Amino acid sequence: MAKLAHKDVLRADQFSGDEIDLIMETARGYAAALERGEVVDRMRGKILSTLFYEPSTRTRLSFEAAMERLGGRVISVAEAKSTSAAKGESLYDTIKTVEGYADVIVLRHPEIGSAEQAARATDLPVINAGDGAGQHPTQSLLDLYTILEEQRRVDGLTIALVGDLKHGRTVHSLADLLANYDVRFQFVAPDALRMPAEIVGRLRAKGLSVTETSDLAGTIPVADVVYMTRIQRERFEDAAEYDRLKDAFVLTRDALDPAKETITVMHPLPRVNEIATDVDGLPGAAYFRQAANGVPVRMALLSLVTA
Ligand code: CP
Repeated sequence: MAKLAHKDVLRADQFSGDEIDLIMETARGYAAALERGEVVDRMRGKILSTLFYEPSTRTRLSFEAAMERLGGRVISVAEAKSTSAAKGESLYDTIKTVEGYADVIVLRHPEIGSAEQAARATDLPVINAGDGAGQHPTQSLLDLYTILEEQRRVDGLTIALVGDLKHGRTVHSLADLLANYDVRFQFVAPDALRMPAEIVGRLRAKGLSVTETSDLAGTIPVADVVYMTRIQRERFEDAAEYDRLKDAFVLTRDALDPAKETITVMHPLPRVNEIATDVDGLPGAAYFRQAANGVPVRMALLSLVTA
């Protein structure tokens, strides 16, 4: 039995198969209601606090749109320096304070483990909207939702995760979430930016096929989904190393010539230079649909954890 009420959402590997199914089904229901132009009042009288200590366009705005679409209200912090964290307040004290103002908290923070720390400080549901180079579980849920919408299945697919697999929290979470399915992984990264060995080990221990390569051209013909990611400048200590790697993979329309006709191209965004704009018009270019899917998926999460 799937139980999400009063639960925190901290990591992608926390969900049972039943819980994933419930989130997907609930999100599809909300997407259909939005499509019909229905007013959903599920969260009337409830308040969401979004605390973003790192920049965001999609995650913060789609959580806030989700809460508004559910009839609730939002109190929002868009940068750490506009809070008392800038005066030295601890995350614990901030969360204990916000506990008095809201019914659910969404936190983005530069430190790995910060969402767990916040969750220990309060009985309110805490949703991790990205903890440094750690996890981004709600992104992985909307990524899974997108794969299901675009490909109509997950089992049996070959999924290529490309780019900064070392620092990319979206790919860490997506790999963990897709481990619930029978997928074949192609991890495409420069040597210096490979997927952390512990994640590769977890997947292989579950019997999943994982290929690690730096050959994007060789991967494209076999992939059902190509998930491009940005090289994360903000996680590099050495600017010269970032400059060396920043354009390691640029997906162009020509590069997709040998791809399957049904290929889905995804990107959590923001894009810098990883996908040429001439790809945007292809039917399989799903990244802006993917970003839009954040609303129904986050509506599902907000309504389920506050039920
Ligand atoms: N995908 C994602 O997390 O985007 P933002 O950084 O804009 O929230």
